[in-house]
Amino acid sequence: MNIAANPHISADQTVYLKDYQQPSFLVDSINLDIQVHDDHTHVFSTLVMKRNAAGDLVLLGRDLELKSIKLNGEPLNSEDYTLDDEQLVITNAPDQLTLETQVVIHPESNTQLEGLYKAGDLFVTQNEPEGFRKITFYPDRPDVLSVFTTRVEADKKYPVLLANGNLLETGTVGEDRHFAIWQDPTKKPSYLFACVIGDLAVLKDRYTTSEGRDVALEIYAIEKDIPKCKIAMEALKHSMRWDEEHYGRPYDLDNYMIVAVSQFNMGAMENKGLNIFNTSCVLADEEYTTDAAIMRVQSVIAHEYFHNWTGNRITCRDWFQLCLKEGLTVFRDQSFSEDLQSAAVQRIDDVAVLKAHQFPEDAGPLSHPPRPDHFVEINNFYTATVYEKGAEINRMMATLLGKEKFRQGTDEYFKRFDGQAVTVEDWIDALSAGSGVDLSAFLIWYNQPGTPKLEVESEYLPDQRTYRLNFKQSLKAHPKYPNLKAVPIPVALALFNPQTGEQYTLNSPDLFENQVKDGVYLFDQDHASIEFSGVDQPPVVSLLRNFSAPVNLVFNYTDEELAFLIQHETNGFNQWQASQTLLERILLQEHSVEPYIDAIQKTLPTLVRQDPLLASRLFDVPTEGYLGSRIDHDYQPEQVQEKRNSVLETLARALNGFWKETYLALNPALQHDFSQAMGERALKNIMLSMMARQGDDEVFELAYTQYQTTGNMSERLGALRVLVWNDAPQAQQALDDFYNRYKDEALSLDQWFMIQAANPNATAETIRTLTQHPDYDLGTPNRVRSVSGGLSNNPVNAWSYGVEHYIDLAQYFDEKNPILGSRLLQVLSRWYTLAEPHKTRVKEALQALQPKVKSKNVKETLNSILSV
Ligand code: ARG
Ligand code: ZN
Repeated sequence: MNIAANPHISADQTVYLKDYQQPSFLVDSINLDIQVHDDHTHVFSTLVMKRNAAGDLVLLGRDLELKSIKLNGEPLNSEDYTLDDEQLVITNAPDQLTLETQVVIHPESNTQLEGLYKAGDLFVTQNEPEGFRKITFYPDRPDVLSVFTTRVEADKKYPVLLANGNLLETGTVGEDRHFAIWQDPTKKPSYLFACVIGDLAVLKDRYTTSEGRDVALEIYAIEKDIPKCKIAMEALKHSMRWDEEHYGRPYDLDNYMIVAVSQFNMGAMENKGLNIFNTSCVLADEEYTTDAAIMRVQSVIAHEYFHNWTGNRITCRDWFQLCLKEGLTVFRDQSFSEDLQSAAVQRIDDVAVLKAHQFPEDAGPLSHPPRPDHFVEINNFYTATVYEKGAEINRMMATLLGKEKFRQGTDEYFKRFDGQAVTVEDWIDALSAGSGVDLSAFLIWYNQPGTPKLEVESEYLPDQRTYRLNFKQSLKAHPKYPNLKAVPIPVALALFNPQTGEQYTLNSPDLFENQVKDGVYLFDQDHASIEFSGVDQPPVVSLLRNFSAPVNLVFNYTDEELAFLIQHETNGFNQWQASQTLLERILLQEHSVEPYIDAIQKTLPTLVRQDPLLASRLFDVPTEGYLGSRIDHDYQPEQVQEKRNSVLETLARALNGFWKETYLALNPALQHDFSQAMGERALKNIMLSMMARQGDDEVFELAYTQYQTTGNMSERLGALRVLVWNDAPQAQQALDDFYNRYKDEALSLDQWFMIQAANPNATAETIRTLTQHPDYDLGTPNRVRSVSGGLSNNPVNAWSYGVEHYIDLAQYFDEKNPILGSRLLQVLSRWYTLAEPHKTRVKEALQALQPKVKSKNVKETLNSILSV
C-alpha cells in the first residue's frame, strides 16, 4: 500500500478519528454505465470534480481491473498516477476536472457480498460502508456527495433493471440486450448507491405524502414470494405516515423500491429510494414465518425507511460517526414498534437484546465507545454498541426532554443540516439549541466504553419522616480510555405504599422531592442524594422504570420487594425487570425460589387473560447465555445449565395443573387483534414446554396435534421444538413432515436447521449432519447463521464442540466473506471467563488460528479477542 499518499493510515492499518481531513476534491456529478455480462461486467464512469482542499486527488478502488483512464479528455500514462491495491492517486490535478475511467469487475464470482455481486440469478449491490470502491474508482467516503446518473445494461433474460432515483429512459441494444437510465436528483454519498439486475416480480402500491406527493411503492421479490410482501408493504405505508406525524418528515422522491435478496450479510440497506433487504427482513406470512419474524420485518422496514431522513438526507461526515445515523434510527424504529404492539413488551424485548448482546460486548475485549476513535476495519463496528447503545443514548435525551422539546430539537437538526454530512457534536448542538436544554454532557456517553454501574442505597429516617436515596456511579477502568467521566443518567422512579400496593403521587404535598421532575431524576455526578419528605413509612421504590438508562443497577432490594413489584408495579417493563432480577438471584446466588413462585401465582392467572403478550414475557427465565455473560471468571456452563433446569422443574411442579388448564383454555384463532393472538400463541408454547418439564406424558400428544392442525408458523415451530428438544417419539416424524412441507421455502427451512442446532441435546454429530445436509449452503449467510446461531443457544455445546465449529468457519470465510467470518468468531469473545481447562483449550485454538487468517476483518477481531 502506498502509505505516503495516504498519511491517515498507519502501517498497521489503523484509522484514527483525530486524523480526519476534508476531502481534497468533491464530485459534482457522476455518470455510471454498468454493462453486465455472464462472466464479467464493464463499468464506465465519468466524474466531474472540483478542488475542495489541498492535497492529491485520491480515488479509492479495490479488485478493479483498470482498462482506461482520461483526465479532461486526455488519456493518462502510467507515470501520471500511482495505483496500488487500494487507491489511484493523481498528483498535481487541476482544480476543475473531468475524469473518465473504464474498469472490469467480476460480480459473478464475488462471494464477499460487498460491492456488486450475484446472489443466485440476481445482481445486487451492498455499498455501505466501503463497497462502492469495488465497483469503480471513486472518493468513496461519506462526506463526498454527488448527483448520480446510472445506465444499467444487461441481457434481456434479466428484465428488471433498477437504480436509484427516477427512470429517464429505456431501450434495447442489438437483439438480446436492453438498458435503463436512472437519475437520482438528491445528492448522496457513494455508500447509498444501488442497482439491481434480474428477473423479479413486483408488488405495487401508492402513497400520498402530507405534502401531496404521490409516491409509487414497489417491492420486488421472486414470483412465489410476492404474497409474503403484503405485511412489509403495509408497514412501509405506516412508517411513512408515522414519520410525518412524529417528526414532521415527509418522503421526497416519486418512487420507493425495496428488493428482497436471499444472500445478504446484514438485515437490510437503506440505499436512496432503492432499499435492498435480506429476505428474512421483508418476507412475512403467518404460514411461513414466526410472529417474532413478522414483528422484525415491520421494524426493519421502518428502520430503513426512517434512514431516508436520519442517514440519507443528513448523513455521517466519516464512519466514526456511524452511531449518529444508526443509534438515532434504531431509537426511531423502536418507538415505531412501541406503537404497533404493547409498548411495555416492545421495551422488554429491546432491553433483553441490549442486555444479552451489548452489555457482554461492552464488558469484554470488543468493548468500544458508541463512537469509536480508531478502527482497522469499519465493518467490525456494526455492533450492538453502535446500534443499541447508540439508541439508548437518544432515548435518554428524549426521556429527559419530553415529547415537545425533543421534537423542537429534532426539527432544529433537520433544518440546520439537511443535505450535509455531519458529526455527533452537530446532533447534540442542534438538539440542545432547538430544545433550549444543554445536552452537551451526553457527548460523554458517545465517547467512552463500558456499562456504568449505578449503585443506589435507601435510608428511612422515621424522626424526620424522610426517605433518602443515595446514588453513586462508576465505570470499570479501561486500558485505552484512562479518563472516564461521570455520565448523565436519567433515573425514572416511582414509590409504592407497601401495604396497599398503591403508587404514591410524587411531589404532592405529602411526598415532596424537588429534583424529581415528571418522575425522572437526572443523576450526573459521581455521588448524589435525593430526599422525599412527608413519608410515614418506608416505601417500596421502583428504580430505572422503562429502563431509563443503559446501566447496571445495584440496589439492595429484598426478595420480597422484588416479588411485590412483580405484583404491583404498573410499569410493565419494571414488572418484568423485577422478575428477572429475582430469578437471577435464584439462579446465580442460591436465593430461595419461593417468593418468585408466590408472586407468579398471584399475578399470572389474571394477567394471562388480560394481557397475554405481557404475561408471556413474565414467564421468561434468563437464558443460559445471559446468565453466563454475568459470570466473569471460572464460568462453568454445565453448572449454569443444571441449576437453570432444576429451577425450571421446581417452577413447573409448583404450578401443577396450571399449565395444562391454561393451555387448553387458550385459543389464539379467536383473537382478532394480532398482538393478543401473538401473546396467546407464545403462552401456548410456554405451557407446552412447562408440561414437558413436569414430565406430563400427555404433552407430546398435545404438541403433535398442535403441530399438525395449525396453519401458523409460531404454533407449528413451538410444537416441533417441544417434540425435538425432548426426544419425543413423534419427533422424527414431525421433522420429516416439516422438511417436506417447507423444502422450497428458504426462511422456513432455516428454522428447521435452527431448531435442530439449538436442541440442548444436539451433539457434534448432529451439527455435522446438518452442515452436510444437501440444503446447507455456505454461500447463504442466513443458512449458515441458522446452524451457528442455533448452536450458540446452548453455551454447554458452544463451548465444547462448538469452538471448533466457529474457528473452522472463521477460517473458511476469512477471505471468502470476511464480514461473516468476523461475526462468527465474535461468539468466542468471552473465552477468558471460562474455568480451566476450557479457558486454555479455547485460547490455544484461537492462537492457532492467528497465523492463518488474512482479512483485516477477521484479524482485527481475533487480535482483540486475544488481547485480554
Ligand atoms: N445501514 C444498514 C442498516 O442500517 C446496515 C448496513 C451494514 N452493512 C455492513 N456491511 N456492515 O441497517
Ligand atoms: Zn440502520
